Amino acid sequence: MDKMIQSPNGDVTISNDGATILKQMQVLHPAAKMLVELSKSQDVAAGDGTTTVVVIAGSLLDASAKLLAKGIHPTTISEAFQKASDKAVEILEGMSTPVDLTNREALIQSATTSLSSKVVSQYSNLLAPIAVDAVLKVVDPSHSDNVDLKDIKIIKKLGGTIEDTQLIDGVVFTQKVAGGGLHKIEKAKIGLIQFCLSPPKTDMENQVVVSDYAQMDRVLREERQYILNLIKQIKKAGCNVLLIQKSILRDAVNDLALHFLAKMKIMVVKDIERDDIEFICKSLGSRPIASIDHFLPENLAVADTVEEFGAGAGGKLVKVIGAANQGRTVSVLIYGSNKLVIEEADRSIHDALCVIRCLVKKRALIAGGGAPETEMSLRLMEHARSLTGMEGYCFRAFAEALEVIPYTLAENAGLNPISVVTELRNRHVQGEKTAGINVRKGCITNILEENVVQPLLVSTSAIQLASECVRSIMKIDDIVTTR
Ligand SMILES: Nc1ncnc2c1ncn2[C@@H]1O[C@H](COP(=O)(O)OP(=O)(O)OP(=O)(O)O)[C@@H](O)[C@H]1O
Ligand SMILES: [Mg+2]
Repeated sequence: MDKMIQSPNGDVTISNDGATILKQMQVLHPAAKMLVELSKSQDVAAGDGTTTVVVIAGSLLDASAKLLAKGIHPTTISEAFQKASDKAVEILEGMSTPVDLTNREALIQSATTSLSSKVVSQYSNLLAPIAVDAVLKVVDPSHSDNVDLKDIKIIKKLGGTIEDTQLIDGVVFTQKVAGGGLHKIEKAKIGLIQFCLSPPKTDMENQVVVSDYAQMDRVLREERQYILNLIKQIKKAGCNVLLIQKSILRDAVNDLALHFLAKMKIMVVKDIERDDIEFICKSLGSRPIASIDHFLPENLAVADTVEEFGAGAGGKLVKVIGAANQGRTVSVLIYGSNKLVIEEADRSIHDALCVIRCLVKKRALIAGGGAPETEMSLRLMEHARSLTGMEGYCFRAFAEALEVIPYTLAENAGLNPISVVTELRNRHVQGEKTAGINVRKGCITNILEENVVQPLLVSTSAIQLASECVRSIMKIDDIVTTR
């Protein structure tokens, strides 16, 4: 289920993403802080399963409390949990099926699963393929065991609906063309400048007193000459699209400069953020130009078209398509009718991208819907029977704790958790390894037939991180406050 989070200043966030919810919570207890950190580390390691990891950790803590009450020493519990988590990961690996990156269908299914619990789930047939195509576009075949999600630029635009969300194979600027006039340039030669097209300022607080009109004329003439010189040099290099980085010292471009640029038929996009420079350069295969002396033809990027597009409530944007030396980058343009929806759509797409990244890192899929947890629980129980003493006891507690996932899924689907989990266990005993909770139909089915699949890495990392967190909490016997 989704959570509505209200911050002290009245901002409201609606989210289902575990990491986001926990990040915004103001927890005081140091152990609770560890759980927040746990969810963050799952976000870094896998990107999805951030709720699962905390739910499992909570259940394991609950189990440990019961074991402690029975008089078992924390170190014994901690060691047994370590072994149990290793064994659980083994079981998960055993039930996974390898997946190939060329199998687009399977990738889309796992992205759909990660989106299915989100607010934007009804758009998953649109968003899942976008996420898959975006990641496949930026994957580097030579060392493709990781994906840098920074190469996928997510642009959020208010107006329209999520249905208008699109993947753009190029660079998108959220600002419209400055000055107006030009809306489309074919065979663009793009220059990205980091210097300003406006009269220079003095370094210190100086005052120039202008006392008559003749002096004023001279000042204006000088200014005009200075700017015209800069722009002539830009034109000489063959540039017809100019991207101007935002400047905090003075106006990066003034009206006079815009006027001249429009006359020379140069399209201008101003206010480019410093943080975006790296992405733009990588996408266009060019370098930023820091001074007019370096504004040479070889420093310009070549692209098929630069055009202004989009209208209506969202306002206009500019996109660059078909850069000659295009890097492995891609842009995803998200539309949404209000800020809450856009923010959640962004987080959900991020989750879907992370799921695909997990599959690039570790190419295996497992079933979802509580099937892996039930299977792990059952196999660990079996294994516990072969163990003796306290260890077997702790193994059994660990195995039981894992059933929290199918229990919670059943509860959220509006089913009776106890009967569903019992039935699920029964089906797994009979050898149906992929029997899971079918949330849509409200019964237990072979979850693979429903195409509810998730990356192996999400589940293994959730188990490993949760048990690691619980173990470190178990090893603490007191809190010392220093003030
Ligand atoms: N259609 C479905 N039917 C049954 N179970 C599903 C379905 N879609 C997802 N699940 C299950 O829901 C769980 C994931 O839920 P959810 O995405 O809300 O949390 P999370 O992935 O742990 O955390 P987050 O997405 O917030 O980082 C997984 O156990 C997955 O197997
Ligand atoms: Mg998820």
